Amino acid sequence: MVVLRFLGILILSLTLPAISFAAGGHDGLNCTGCHDIHSAKGPIIFVVPENKKSLNPKTNQPHATTTALCLGCHETMERGGLGIKAISSHISHPYGVAPNPKVAIVPEVFLRDGKLECVGCHDPHPSNPYHRYLRVETAKGAKMAEFCALCHSAKADPRVLKEMKVFDSMDQRKVSLAPAPAAPEAAPKKKK
Ligand code: HEC
Ligand code: HEC
Ligand code: HEC
Ligand code: HEC
Repeated sequence: MVVLRFLGILILSLTLPAISFAAGGHDGLNCTGCHDIHSAKGPIIFVVPENKKSLNPKTNQPHATTTALCLGCHETMERGGLGIKAISSHISHPYGVAPNPKVAIVPEVFLRDGKLECVGCHDPHPSNPYHRYLRVETAKGAKMAEFCALCHSAKADPRVLKEMKVFDSMDQRKVSLAPAPAAPEAAPKKKK
């Protein structure tokens, strides 16, 4: 198990030089870096198992699925991850929380089952062009205040309060990169 983890890190670190030239850290993962087509370890055919070691400090339970999958890589090895840009819940912005409205009013689009998870702020797919895979455009972080203001408007200069376009890779119907090929039955009938 531990050996496998080290192997994982080795493989990932070997691919890092390529990754760092890509537009974002996930582009080099090339789909199968996260989804293992036939021998997956977790839900949504994930390549790493859900991190059950890193507990939600609020509930003392493992995190919800998508967050546990992110933490399968982005947590220290002691806390069940692969040590890639580890997010430690002791020093991180809260996640896995149902927002206390005195602290944050979170638009519905950022919530999963009423909670703010990693995927509330990030959309991890390589199709996401934004800085750090954030779900809104922040001009490489220069407009971070606009992002924070989406949920913490009481803290922000009112001039930065803007409606921002939210990126969402999770509804295939919203994308029409290429016209879908006509279904066979819809194609004009050839004469018999
Ligand atoms: C960094 C890891 C990562 C990479 C790389 C990645 N995915 Fe995902 N994928 C996820 C996560 C996490 C979810 C769940 C997201 C959510 O629930 O918002 C997901 C969800 C999906 C789903 C939807 C599953 C469902 O049940 O609705 C599809 C389809 C998918 N990914 C395909 C791809 C394809 C194709 C690529 C490459 C172009 C890719 N993914 C690259 C992490 C990744
Ligand atoms: C299979 C391992 C893996 C999983 C799972 C994974 N990531 Fe990553 N992630 C990486 C790697 C590798 C990098 C690039 C690290 C580097 O550049 O040092 C990265 C980088 C990032 C970055 C920084 C991107 C940048 O442009 O600098 C963000 C943000 C991120 N991941 C968020 C997430 C979120 C959110 C999830 C879950 C939805 C997730 N990751 C799941 C491997 C993973
Ligand atoms: C409240 C929104 C929010 C939540 C929730 C959130 N992040 Fe982030 N994350 C950010 C922002 C903003 C940045 C960019 C910080 C910067 O560039 O200064 C970031 C940066 C990152 C990075 C890149 C760090 C680096 O050193 O380059 C990773 C990896 C990442 N997040 C993963 C995660 C994971 C995994 C989760 C869930 C466990 C998560 N994030 C939850 C907002 C969030
Ligand atoms: C998508 C909504 C959302 C965004 C965007 C967001 N936050 Fe939060 N923030 C929350 C939620 C939810 C909490 C937890 C509220 C609670 O305690 O229930 C929180 C809590 C906090 C806290 C209190 C942390 C603590 O430990 O008590 C700070 C500080 C904070 N956010 C700063 C920021 C900053 C800075 C940004 C921008 C970089 C940001 N937030 C972006 C939703 C968000």
